[in-house]
Amino acid sequence: MRSATRSPWFSLVALCFAIFVVIGGCGSDTPKAASKVETPKPIEDLNMAATDFVNLHDMTPVRGFFVANKLGHLKETVAIATANKGGKYPVGTILQLVPQEAMVKRRAGFNPKTKDWEFFFLTTSAAGTAIDKRGGEEVVNRFGGNCYACHAAAQGKFDLVCEKTHGCAPLPIGDDLIHGIQATDPRPLATKN
Ligand code: HEC
Repeated sequence: MRSATRSPWFSLVALCFAIFVVIGGCGSDTPKAASKVETPKPIEDLNMAATDFVNLHDMTPVRGFFVANKLGHLKETVAIATANKGGKYPVGTILQLVPQEAMVKRRAGFNPKTKDWEFFFLTTSAAGTAIDKRGGEEVVNRFGGNCYACHAAAQGKFDLVCEKTHGCAPLPIGDDLIHGIQATDPRPLATKN
């Protein structure tokens, strides 16, 4: 009988088709599932080398001090400094009043006490920058003045930034002297401004 001879062939074809669909189906799902796995974002941090410091006049001036951001967040850094209403500076921020002292915003959790700021005491010359001291609440400047002890007096919302109105005791030197120290930054300028 014709139907009796066709039937096993039909079953075999049907079985092959079913296997194709099942395996094909599974096969096509696998890459989709794999593409959903997200690679974790690397943690942003700025671990400064001496050569990363530049002449103050290659930074962005905001009122009396200078700012930079080496991780691409300069707009946010400048916005917080300019508004002068407080705010947490983004990671990668560099702040300087004078060539020899800098505050650098490290990764979240770097040092909760210093609000993740790393303090630097630097030596500057025509040859460039050398790092004398770096770290947290223990760092002192050339006069033995402790960076954190003074800067911690800034109101909380100002993220340890003193300026003139944030609650820190004023510096014992006037603006004229500060401007003079800024103007005579001995390091070579990258830009001719
Ligand atoms: C005697 C207290 C004192 C010490 C010590 C001190 N600072 Fe300051 N610092 C100030 C004050 C006050 C200002 C604001 C000055 C102004 O704008 O007239 C300032 C300004 C700054 C600024 C500009 C941003 C801001 O907060 O206004 C930076 C950056 C800075 N200091 C870093 C340091 C670092 C780094 C050290 C240590 C190596 C240090 N300072 C030591 C009191 C101090």
